[in-house]
Amino acid sequence: MIINDEHYNLESRKDEFLNSKPFPHLQLKNFLKKDFFEDFQNTKEDTTSKNSGKNFETDVEDKKWISKNSELSSITKKIIDELSSDLWAKNLRDLTGISDLFCTTVGNTDLANYHEMKPGGLLAPHVDHSSEPKTGYPHVLNIVVYLTKEWDTSWGGGTDLLNNKGSKIITKVPYLPNSAVIFLHTPFSFHGVSRINEKAKFVRKSIYIDYYSQSFDPYKHINLDFKNKWFEHGTTFVLPKFNSYFKKENSLYRKIKLDYLINKFFN
Ligand SMILES: [Fe+2]
Repeated sequence: MIINDEHYNLESRKDEFLNSKPFPHLQLKNFLKKDFFEDFQNTKEDTTSKNSGKNFETDVEDKKWISKNSELSSITKKIIDELSSDLWAKNLRDLTGISDLFCTTVGNTDLANYHEMKPGGLLAPHVDHSSEPKTGYPHVLNIVVYLTKEWDTSWGGGTDLLNNKGSKIITKVPYLPNSAVIFLHTPFSFHGVSRINEKAKFVRKSIYIDYYSQSFDPYKHINLDFKNKWFEHGTTFVLPKFNSYFKKENSLYRKIKLDYLINKFFN
């Protein structure tokens, strides 16, 4: 196994997870075994060829590249495989109390598990897609693993967790190399990455995996600072300025936001 053994007992951190604000989350330090983390530093994903991924240069996603490769490097794949294993899923069920949490088998071509962000990059506040692409089951949990070895926290690059409207940052989980961030995903779990300092010396690398629940009322046992209901929505961004919603190039973001607000109202 490549994840440090101490992180296979997440039940012991359940209270810490559930009581974190603005919504349940946890940072796991020294996440991957040291030798494996070193090995990862020698691997490179193909970020240049046309079919390998997608680049973003918009108001809400900038200098960001996501992998759509059906074949990732064997090292990257090992991390994804362990985070999708039965044993790890059980660990997450114990942490969250979501007894029917499961890993998706949809894979990288659909869900883009490997990300890179260049200096100056940005990922504006958003909630992810609400549903598993194949079954429609609720998206309930995320893990992000920080994989760049050398990183100065003054460059930014951590994960911002925001209030339930996505308008105010409440917590910043710092980009600590070889740490992982786990957070509960709900229709109100707004998160993002503030603009990375242009002076950052390295690319921000991360792996992202999401988890789902077979229940359509997956948060009922969790006390949240907002309505603990799930509803359907696409990846919904909060645009930087109100005016931004009226720009032609943002029409898709505007449409998704409107759908989100309608579904929120009727739930
Ligand atoms: Fe996200």
